Amino acid sequence: MRLFISILAFIFVSMTTAIAAEKIVVAHRGASGYLPEHTMPAKAMAYAMGPDYIEQDVVMTRDDRLVVLHDHFLDQVTDVQEKFPNRKRADGRYYVIDFTLAEILTLNVYERYHFDENGKRVAYFPGRFPLGKSIFKVHTLEDEIELIQGLNKSTGQNIGIYTESKSAAFHLSEGKDLSKAILQTFKKYGYDSKNSNAYYQTFEYDDLKRVHDELLPALGMDIKLVQLMGEEADYKEMVTRDGLKALSNYADGIGPSISIITKADESEAGYHITDLVKDAHDAGLVVHPYTFRAEHFAMPKFVGSLDELLDIFYNKVGVDGVFSDFPDRAVRFLHKK
Ligand code: G3P
Ligand code: CA
Repeated sequence: MRLFISILAFIFVSMTTAIAAEKIVVAHRGASGYLPEHTMPAKAMAYAMGPDYIEQDVVMTRDDRLVVLHDHFLDQVTDVQEKFPNRKRADGRYYVIDFTLAEILTLNVYERYHFDENGKRVAYFPGRFPLGKSIFKVHTLEDEIELIQGLNKSTGQNIGIYTESKSAAFHLSEGKDLSKAILQTFKKYGYDSKNSNAYYQTFEYDDLKRVHDELLPALGMDIKLVQLMGEEADYKEMVTRDGLKALSNYADGIGPSISIITKADESEAGYHITDLVKDAHDAGLVVHPYTFRAEHFAMPKFVGSLDELLDIFYNKVGVDGVFSDFPDRAVRFLHKK
């Protein structure tokens, strides 16, 4: 009996160690540190870097097609202003949902930018791919899944998809069921169980709940779900120990902002770690924070490099994975270990 218990204990410890060792890398918007975010070249480059998952943010067009774009707007990553000057709404924004896929395919995609006071485009990340060079286009979720599955076949690897339903409530208010369409696409391509190499992520708790309670059962699916969260008041209850326990009835994991896991000390030279990751793990949730970038202005003040940030999160905080614009750097970091 004692031997049996020892063997069981050994298996349990080995399994726990194996699970703990399975830290993942999610290529955030593709290899977006090197090529314009969410373009096919950025996804192909990310694939070659060997992450575990490639991320898609998804929105819907006027003709109900799913396209891979970070926002439900076109005006910070395309030349929509030149091509369709009269199609903005009263708020000055160009909404994806007001355009057909055919119209969107006529646009060129740029590095994320804003306009300066002289009306000149200025890149958000000045050190990245130059603005307006070469040709990049918007693509559909189906295009991207076929790229990843095609590369999985030709390389023998098995890289997954990590798909965010962007502004699900906004789409519903416009009569579009974005989340249902994403899940139908998952199912079409064989991502239909918790064992599938896919995550569904959302910032909207109502969306998570609806997906879990209504859409997945209706579609005969059961995939891994992740609740994203930031510093906003909306998440105040959710990030408590009780909130995370309640969340674990719906989600398999959380995707928190770096800023709610580590907090800079007053001097800004040091930091402390909040209870969020420990509490999430206690609730059985995996933790995949965002966003790990190489630019100093885009990382916490208490670190000097991306490697240092990765070390803190993978090794000291103990997260299960990270979203990074530089998936090669995160993959290399984990391999060094
Ligand atoms: O989905 C994880 C991370 O991408 C959340 O931030 O704004 O880049 O979609 P965002
Ligand atoms: Ca995202």
